[in-house]
Amino acid sequence: EGTRVKIPASTANLGPGFDTLGMALTLYAWIEMKPAETTLFHFHGDNLEGLPKDKSNLIYKVAQSVFAEAGVSIPELEITMYSDIPLTRGLGSSASAIVGALFAANLLIGSPLGLEKLFDMATALENHPDNVGASLFGGIITAIWDGFHATALRIEPPANLEVLVAIPDFQLSTSKAREVLPKQVGMSDAVYNISRTSLLTAALAAGRLDLIKESMRDRLHQPFRASLIPGMARILEEATLHGALGTALSGAGPTLLSLVDRNSNQAEELEAFLLSVLANEGIPAKTLLLK
Ligand code: HSE
Repeated sequence: EGTRVKIPASTANLGPGFDTLGMALTLYAWIEMKPAETTLFHFHGDNLEGLPKDKSNLIYKVAQSVFAEAGVSIPELEITMYSDIPLTRGLGSSASAIVGALFAANLLIGSPLGLEKLFDMATALENHPDNVGASLFGGIITAIWDGFHATALRIEPPANLEVLVAIPDFQLSTSKAREVLPKQVGMSDAVYNISRTSLLTAALAAGRLDLIKESMRDRLHQPFRASLIPGMARILEEATLHGALGTALSGAGPTLLSLVDRNSNQAEELEAFLLSVLANEGIPAKTLLLK
């Protein structure tokens, strides 16, 4: 009588594809939902203490928006969430909660809303389609959003592609990391990013891992965000010397993401490099090798 969904974490931007590219990661949250006599919540996971346990809870509110859209009334819900996704680290934890809540609620009432509708609703809540698109469709996605409708195309990640994330031990809100961005950009920087986003997308689709290094560079957001993350500038400059195919800030940060060729056997060297740069800045961090 209830539903249970498993939702992947995600990384957004992949360097140049600001608010455009996303990739699902093998790090998950689970949401269970069922009708109840009175609304109650169970949260399991280090990261979840502190979330509201009343009807102001995001998962509850998102579920109610699905019921409203479908013309169904289920005012009281029992909601359970388990999560391995660290909060406010640039790994799409809020997107995974939104997508999980939308999907679980829709499933609970027989899935009257299509995936495209859920994608539009999720994007309107997040204001950008990259994290929610990856959590909803999986794989690598390239997406657009016109303020009403989001459209995404899924690309199958190259078989040898792995992801090494270094997760600094501090939180950085997306709004703070967006406040430092300029309101306008110059034409040459726009072209710099468009060309690299196009090449990166095509390289990922074609499995051309050799093109990732040049195509993952960015001038639209990372240079401005570097001041918020000690060690970031050096990691972006030098990680490819230690085995990364390419490196980027994961979403709005502070997590730093490197793409790795599984066959290169360089993940350990890269991991040591990332942790030492962050440690030099006095920042404890942990790494995870994901796909
Ligand atoms: N594309 C978004 C950003 C992702 O970089 O701000 C953050 O959630």
